[in-house]
Parts: sequence; structure tokens; C-alpha cells
Amino acid sequence: MATRKTPTTKDFASERGEGDELHQRVSGRGAADADSYLTTNQGIRVSDNQNQLKSGKRGAVLLEDFVLREKIFHFDHERIPERIVHARGSAAHGYFELYKALPSLTKADLFQRAGERTPVFARFSTVAGGAGSVDTPRDVRGFAVKFYTREGNWDLVGNNIPVFFIQDAMKFPDLVHSVKMEADRGYPQAASAHDTFWDFISLMPESTNMIMWKMSDRTLPRSLATMEGFGVHTFRFVNAKGKSTFVKFHWKPKLGLQSTIWDEAVKIAGADPDFHRRDLFERIERGDYPEWELGIQTFDQEFADSFAFDVLDPTKIIPEEIIPVKMIGRMVLDRWPDNFFAETEQSAFCPANIVPGVDFTNDPLLQGRLFSYLDTQKSRLGTANFHQIPINAPKCPVMNFQRDGMMQMLQPKGRANYEPNSLNEADEVTGPRESALLGFSTFEEPEHDADGSKLRIRAESFADHYSQARQFFHSLHEAEQAHLASALVFELSKVGLAHVRNRMMGNLQNVDEGLAQRVADGLGLPLPKASATAVAAQELDPSPALRIVEGPRQRKTLEGRCVGILFSDGSDPAEINTVRAAVEAAKGKPVFISPKIGGAKLKGGKLLAADGQLAGTPS
Ligand code: HEM
Repeated sequence: MATRKTPTTKDFASERGEGDELHQRVSGRGAADADSYLTTNQGIRVSDNQNQLKSGKRGAVLLEDFVLREKIFHFDHERIPERIVHARGSAAHGYFELYKALPSLTKADLFQRAGERTPVFARFSTVAGGAGSVDTPRDVRGFAVKFYTREGNWDLVGNNIPVFFIQDAMKFPDLVHSVKMEADRGYPQAASAHDTFWDFISLMPESTNMIMWKMSDRTLPRSLATMEGFGVHTFRFVNAKGKSTFVKFHWKPKLGLQSTIWDEAVKIAGADPDFHRRDLFERIERGDYPEWELGIQTFDQEFADSFAFDVLDPTKIIPEEIIPVKMIGRMVLDRWPDNFFAETEQSAFCPANIVPGVDFTNDPLLQGRLFSYLDTQKSRLGTANFHQIPINAPKCPVMNFQRDGMMQMLQPKGRANYEPNSLNEADEVTGPRESALLGFSTFEEPEHDADGSKLRIRAESFADHYSQARQFFHSLHEAEQAHLASALVFELSKVGLAHVRNRMMGNLQNVDEGLAQRVADGLGLPLPKASATAVAAQELDPSPALRIVEGPRQRKTLEGRCVGILFSDGSDPAEINTVRAAVEAAKGKPVFISPKIGGAKLKGGKLLAADGQLAGTPS
């Protein structure tokens, strides 16, 4: 396999060509310069990287210029299709560290030894926008973590919201079509404030709980390091004796929850479209590593049968006040990728990637996801061998009889590409074999979950669409409730279809009449009758864990936060120092901002350099 040299940090001789073009050239000829030469992909050294091969100084370009052709050919094919959803994302490497072994819950190898670190790669994303869209739209954030365990890769592909819009994967293409830019006009980009999204949502009352979360401040995280993550679905843990326990996964940020308000997010979108990516990069560069605890809610079949909602319904949570979240480890992100494309862009997370000790449930949304990711990644990354791309490759042995295909990087020896075989009897390489003991075996579902008949049907236990939406709204701090109402007014104001706005207000009546009235007032429209419901909303106890403000995960601290110190000509250096010292004492990071990037002359005449210019560094 061709090897690539790491880029040199040497100085080169600079020369100007006849047309004054700059040539940076390797000056020596010795072995010391071996890693400095620019070559083609065939390893041929290049003599001139500024000019094409021409017939005469001002003449036609010659087709035989293989250096030019190769360079342009490769450039022409640099782009690959972006992800159909979650196209805009930022990622980092790190590790997961287990607090305590969990053998009674799961046999998964990464959960067996307290203190052990498992390498991870985590990618955070927005959902609706393209790869080049801004970081701060009002949108759900993806929270995908690849654990490179000793027994294979486990991908926990979650979001920063614990519920989802739809209950059945059959509706996913419709949901995504409705939220993406409208098919005829090609806008809006990265925004749900438009007709087709609200048309679909208003006809899908199962989305109401998710809509409450989406319109809340949760979708305006201040930093990727100040948001929670959720596995959403109910999964199973399976221990060595084959006992299954239901599990829901949570990521809780060490820095606590913090969001921006809408006006900030709007301003940031213009002044710093890469706000979250830059923040993640800078945190890691300055050693302020983002950290989350991994928490689990575990329960048995008896709880599942007695709970007010179906645990297979991904539009419902199990409140933490009913089943507390137990912290089992922490994830620290401490290394930015070397190359954005090679790692972040080519990473392929897939909920079907699980390890022995973790298993699926019959959640109908999860089951659809198990097909979708592998399929789309084959098309996005171009070959069935995308698992060999370093960022996707497991860090444990991979041995099977799969062969060939586009971009095959492995060179297996011998002729054993099938089994059973008896080539070992002829002293030839015989290849790997299955293991009943250590291999992945699917948990046998109890009979009452799957009765065997083939049905296209939605279970009745999925029919309550409003109780938890109401519970969410009632659990918020009143400031958050006001933000949520304003968000609905903003979004519905951008809806041109009057019947869609009306239908949505009818649905909101089932969540909370006061909320529906606020939205109607904000729109300046009469409040329609409540929509019909299959199941009337129950009054559930509020869950304080759902709110950010004054909730259990708000941290009133400057730790891990930047504090802008504004100064200009004539500012008092003593005052600046006092503020700087106070911010540092509170573990915050002072950032000096002045009207001009060159800084300003303080009282006494000393120039203070600025970290950022006022208009270009919004918070
Ligand atoms: C609970 C519901 C869901 C969650 C939490 C979720 C989460 C995610 C996340 C985090 C990503 C980005 C992965 C990355 O960073 O590369 C993603 C991508 C994707 N999701 Fe989902 N998703 C959900 C539902 C679905 C459903 C129902 C489908 C289809 C039936 C689906 C199809 C996809 C596809 C096709 C991608 C792009 C994958 C790629 O190109 O690499 N998702 N999803």
C-alpha cells in the first residue's frame, strides 16, 4: 500500500518565475530531503507546481501533462454526498472511563473493569441543514458516540433530546422531506419555520412532545459541551447468564446545561456561523476538555408493564424522578481530529453496531434505523468496504470471509474464503470460525411481545400524544415557557397556510390552554377549538429534571465558560485586571474584546491587544 509522508515543516528556497509566480523549492538533493518532495500519486517528483505544460510560453496546454490532469482529476472528485440528515457536524476523539464494573447488568466487555478507558469518537450535529449551514439554528442536535471496544465497535447514536418526532420508521422520509428546504423553491435552509414542516407536524400529533422540546431552549445550546445526550430508545443490557434488563442511556454534561436565547442565536448565526465547531476546537486546544457522564435508567419487564406509557414508544420518556439516572462512567474529549474530511466527514455511526451484552428492543423506530444507516453509508461513502476507513475500523481483530469489493484495502492470504473448510488438514490457512460462547447472540424476546402474526398496525399503547407534552411544558421554568411560546409564534408566523396554523393551535390546546392562547395572541389570530384526541391528556407530576433554569443540571459557575471583557481607548487597566482576576478565580476564561482588532490604548497609554473585534465576537 502506498504510504503518505507527514507534511514537512522545513523551510524551502523561494524563487520567482518569469511571470513573477512564487516557487517554493526543495534546495538540496540528499536523503535528508526525502520527505520534502512534492510527488504525484504515483510517487513521481514534481518539478513545477505553478505552471501547466504548454506549447510555447503563451501557447496551448498539452494533453500529455499528467501532473496537471491528475491534480485536477483528484480535485474534481473531492466532494462526497453529504449525510441526508445531520450533515453539519463536528467531532472529537476521547475516551470513556468506567466507574464501576457492571457484570450483573451486562456482559459487554467495556463495562467489566472499573477505571478502564475505552477510546471513543463523538460527533455532534444539527439535523436539517446542509454541511455548510450554520451551527446555531433552532434544531435538534445529534449526539453520536462510537466506542472502540475490545469486542468490536458499539455506536450509541443519540440526540440531545430524549424523544423523537415519530413512532414508526415508516414516517422518517416524510418527516425529513417536510423539514428540509421546500422541494420547489429550495428554501429555507436549516430551518423548520416553514409551511411543509408545520403541515406535517400538525397532522402528526405523536410529534407534539418532541415539538415542545424542539421549541424549548434545548435546541439553542450555548456549547456542545453544555447539552445532554440521550440514546432515546429503550435498549437491553444482557448479562453473562442471559438475563435482560431494559436500559435507557443518558449523557450528562459536566458543565451543566446552558442555552443561548433566540436573539443571541440569531446574531451568532451571522457573525460566527461556526460558533459550536470553533468552541469545541478551542476548548480542546486549550486543554479545557469537554466531559459528560454516561448515565443509565434500568428497569425490568414488570416496570415496563406497569408504566403509564409503552417503553417501546420513542415519543415518551421515563421521568428521572420515577427511575433515577445512575452514572456509570464519564466521557472526555481530548483530541481534535487530524483531518476533518478523513475523520469527521467519513465517520459512519450506525445504531446496528452493538456488542455482546447490549441488544435492541422492538421499538419500531429503532428497528427501521437498523436498516437505514448502513444502507445510506454505502451510498455516501461509495463502497461496502467503508468499515475499513481508519475512523470506522474497529480497534480489535476483524476476521471473516467477506472479500473484494470497491476500495478493498485488505490483502488476505491463502484460498480459504469460505467455510466450513478442511484446508487446515493440508497445512493451509483455514480462516476464522464462529463461537457459541463469545459470539453475539440475540436476546430471545418473551412471547408476549411478539405474537407471530404479521400486522401493519400501530399499537393502542402508543396513542396518548399529549400527556407528556403537557408534563414537559409544566415542568419548565416560567422564563423557558415564555421562550417556548415565542418560538412557536416565530415559527408559525413564517407559515403561510392559515389552515396549518389553525390546526397547530388546535393541537396546542391539548397541551395547555394558556400556551395555545399565548401563541394565538402572538399571532394575532383567534384561538380555534382543541383538536380531537384519541386519549385525553393526563395530568402528570412535573419533572424538574426537564427544565434548564433552576433545574438540577443548571450549574451557576463560570467553569468552562468564556467571559468577554469589553474595553476601548482610555479603559482603566486596573479595572480590567480586577475583572480578569475575578473571572480566572471563578475558573472562567477571559476574552478581551475591543471595537478594533488591533486593540486599544488604555489609560496611561499602554496598548492592550484584543482577542476579538466587537461585532465579530458575539456571545
Ligand atoms: C431516535 C431517533 C433518531 C436519532 C436519535 C437519530 C440520530 C442520528 C444521528 C446522531 C445522526 C448523525 C450521525 C453522525 O454523526 O454521523 C443520524 C444520521 C442519520 N440518521 Fe438518524 N436518528 C434517528 C432516527 C432516524 C430514523 C428513524 C432514520 C431512518 C429510518 C434515521 C436515518 C438516519 C440517516 C440516514 C442518517 C445519516 C447517516 C450517515 O449518512 O452517516 N434516523 N441520526
